[in-house]
Amino acid sequence: MARILLGVCGGIAAYKALEAVRLATKAGHSVRVVQTPTSERFVGGASFEAITGAPVLTSEFAPDPARGAFPGDPPPQHDPISHLALVGNADVFLIAPASANTLAKLAGGFADNLLTSAALAARCPLIVAPAMNDAMWEHPATQTNLATLRARGVHVVDPGVGQLASKGEHGVGRLAEPAELLAAVERVLGVDADLAGLRVLVTAGGTREPIDSVRFVGNRSSGRMGFALAERAAARGAAVTVLAANVALPHAPGIAYREVETAAQLAAACAHEFPRCDVLLMAAAVADFRPVAPAATKIKKDADAPDSIALERTPDILAGLAQQRTLRQTVVGFAAEHGDGALDYARGKLARKRLDAIVVNDVSQPGIGFDTPDNAVTIVTPERERPLSRAPKGEIAAAILDEVVRLRAIRDADGTSGSPAGRAARV
Ligand code: CTP
Repeated sequence: MARILLGVCGGIAAYKALEAVRLATKAGHSVRVVQTPTSERFVGGASFEAITGAPVLTSEFAPDPARGAFPGDPPPQHDPISHLALVGNADVFLIAPASANTLAKLAGGFADNLLTSAALAARCPLIVAPAMNDAMWEHPATQTNLATLRARGVHVVDPGVGQLASKGEHGVGRLAEPAELLAAVERVLGVDADLAGLRVLVTAGGTREPIDSVRFVGNRSSGRMGFALAERAAARGAAVTVLAANVALPHAPGIAYREVETAAQLAAACAHEFPRCDVLLMAAAVADFRPVAPAATKIKKDADAPDSIALERTPDILAGLAQQRTLRQTVVGFAAEHGDGALDYARGKLARKRLDAIVVNDVSQPGIGFDTPDNAVTIVTPERERPLSRAPKGEIAAAILDEVVRLRAIRDADGTSGSPAGRAARV
């Protein structure tokens, strides 16, 4: 089990850090806590000490009675020279809640208190879980600081949407829930196998619908999002099959890949694989239209070039699969929308296609979506919406899988799929 160093910044959400520590210790991890001086105005060190069974540090000038050791480890015979012994012994450093002020200091490399000094000295993975007012979160300074930290390999647990600390305020900025914080820690450490025993089917890439033997109707999907989902799911213990439509990316070991080209081939492969999967992640961009009568040979431009190409609708593969789903299956769709109304369209698709979740992105935003390494999405489920700010597709994939785990936990708890769609599913 891991040695988790928790850094607590000032903010109402500091109380959630207590619950995160309780969950982490219950899961068998040993936890030490460092606080910023401001955070003590919200939660006292005595509460963390009671749960961790170890002293809490706030100042780089006060000696550590445990000499940098984590609970369960023997303290060294000698006093460590550095006040940074604690972070030196940690497997992971989680800062939750991370205030806008501390994020700015981390991005700038400041080391003006014990928490920021420890972060600067950390050789272990660093995770930040921001919590703040929505205006502060959305401010370009905060977003730029987060981008800087991400570019340095810092993991970010995005805040959720909901009621904020100020009375009556609602928006993005709520600290992620304690269970999500622990999941992020375990994921970074690679100690979680929360998808072990599950068969995950991922569709990726974009279908190509032939016009003739050399031309096609297609789209700009690169398959990066689907491949990231597959790799993350496999890392978390799932048995993963990918149906790859025209993807030119490397294959990861341990994952089964099947190549398809057209929507019809993808539909056939899905029909074969879906009944034996527990989770379907339908990330492929399936062509909505295809030429009615593709030519078997190459159409010559001078001789027989048509004035127009007649198109027909392709069957909606996802909607068809969702009709046959069983109670044990979790079905996630994806939607690339352009501009205003993206969330409304996504909500409509969630209900119409009877999905557990739909992941929507606004492809009108520069730098995200098709054929880019980054994405910014909102995960829409019947009872909540989780916006994820711009991040590498691997991180977005991890958050989508967290949502799958959450939905399946709800299903296991109350015997439904966690969504009205699943509740209506065949058993
Ligand atoms: N999908 C599918 N079969 C299709 C079209 C789409 O299975 N023939 C799936 C995609 O893989 C994705 C979701 O449905 O998971 C997208 O829904 P869709 O309604 O097709 O979204 P858009 O193509 O964005 O639709 P629209 O043009 O209606 O906005």
